[in-house]
Amino acid sequence: MEVELRGITKRFGPVVANSDVNLTIRPGEILGLLGENGAGKTTLMNILSGLYRADEGEIIIDGKTVDFDGPGDAIAAGIGMVHQHFMLVPVFTVAENVVLGVEPVGALDRLDIEAARRQVTDISTQYGLEVDPNAIIEEIPVGLQQRVEIIKVLFRSADVIVFDEPTAVLTPQEVTEFFGIIRSLRDAGKALVFITHKLHEVLEVADRISVLRAGQIVGEGDPKTSTDAELAELMVGRPVRFTVEKSPRKPGETVLDVKDLHVLNERDEVAVDGVSFEVRSGEVVGIAGVQGNGQTELVEAITGLRMPIEGTIAFEGHDITRASARERHRSGMAHIPEDRQRSGIIGTFNIAENMVLDTYYDDRYSSGINLRWPDIYRSTAEIVTDFDVRTNSVFSLANHLSGGNQQKLVVARELSRDIKMMVASQPTRGVDVGSIEYIHKRIIESRDEGDGVLIVSTELDEIMGLSDRILVMFRGRIVAEFEGGKAGIQEIGLAMAGAGAAA
Ligand SMILES: Nc1ncnc2c1ncn2[C@@H]1O[C@H](COP(=O)(O)OP(=O)(O)OP(=O)(O)O)[C@@H](O)[C@H]1O
Ligand SMILES: [Mg+2]
Repeated sequence: MEVELRGITKRFGPVVANSDVNLTIRPGEILGLLGENGAGKTTLMNILSGLYRADEGEIIIDGKTVDFDGPGDAIAAGIGMVHQHFMLVPVFTVAENVVLGVEPVGALDRLDIEAARRQVTDISTQYGLEVDPNAIIEEIPVGLQQRVEIIKVLFRSADVIVFDEPTAVLTPQEVTEFFGIIRSLRDAGKALVFITHKLHEVLEVADRISVLRAGQIVGEGDPKTSTDAELAELMVGRPVRFTVEKSPRKPGETVLDVKDLHVLNERDEVAVDGVSFEVRSGEVVGIAGVQGNGQTELVEAITGLRMPIEGTIAFEGHDITRASARERHRSGMAHIPEDRQRSGIIGTFNIAENMVLDTYYDDRYSSGINLRWPDIYRSTAEIVTDFDVRTNSVFSLANHLSGGNQQKLVVARELSRDIKMMVASQPTRGVDVGSIEYIHKRIIESRDEGDGVLIVSTELDEIMGLSDRILVMFRGRIVAEFEGGKAGIQEIGLAMAGAGAAA
């Protein structure tokens, strides 16, 4: 099934999200779709999948113009989308999620759950998408949740499948598996669109590349001959530096001192198993590791979102092991959480409200009785400009920002306060190459001003680029420590895989 988007234009009030876009999606092909944050990728694909209606232009399927009056029509026409932010029901099983809305019915119009399970298993086997149909969504890793989204789309017989930043939340191992899946879908004759901010990924897996900038198609890349640097320049309209520039660190006093920390996870299993380390003023400490090795729980304990069962945390010489998240925050600990939608922003609040979410009681913003809104709006406008959060107004709802711009909003808020320590989890998740360059620069500036910085990231490049010291976490413990700039990717990778760790 071949799909042609012809002359698509979409406006949101004064914002032109797509402007006269022409794009063809062919069967048996993976089309890589690139573009900076807010370029209009998700909007364009939401139009294709019937969530939005274009203001101008046509969707043509196998030569016939179609008119989608909602996602149901697009699904019926064979178009499926795996969204940037998953849309599964956390407390339902895999099978229940897959058949949601199109349940097979048995006797007395009851849900035939056996049939549902069987159908899920059939699709799993056919495309190598292994997953237990009885597993509860919230209890399985993100990589598997994504498989469920793919099975859901296949269950509705999609011939065209759009993947909106599928790899942003995956471990390297899961990315490799995902590439296997998307290739097998291509070989089965499906037409695929793959959106990502990781340029090497499109170069590896795409057959063709199209680049959007400010709502328009600005060029094509050829996966066989294009380079990262060319694609980056096409995306953002200027050359991008991929390496972080920094002077040698000048570590001062200890800012954060973690001693023999033990933390349990959601299921009451030991997630952090006796971790000790310190972060000094003026240094960046990076924690490398494959997702799920205790990093999340460690950060939650440090930022006050989860009580440790043993051990202590001191911040600037004070024991804060039992202090609330707000107390830590007030005393100068900033936090960029790993999941922006769950704990970074409130989507139905506007940008300015989100900017002062945790500082509104500050003298700067509050008289003690009233909030100083004009000051809040003015300061938000400045920060939004500094961090290049793409929006036409500080009164826009955070929900209406593109995914990467939501992330930039969180980073901007946390980096623009007067802080002593930054705890950043996956700080550049979903952010385009140009903005990554800027965020990294600001993190290094924060270090050079004497803040302590703790970075937790599953992106090894990011850890290696930023860190003065690198700690590797494996199964709840710190299994290796490296001097930044000295260790090779191989060495760190091996430690991440548990080589040399006591079993
Ligand atoms: N529902 C909406 N209401 C208002 N503006 C919107 C809405 N959805 C998107 N926009 C705006 O349209 C533009 C394009 O956003 P879109 O989400 O398509 O970007 P994107 O290319 O997917 O970016 P990212 O890489 O950050 O995900 C942005 O300026 C965004 O703020
Ligand atoms: Mg998007």
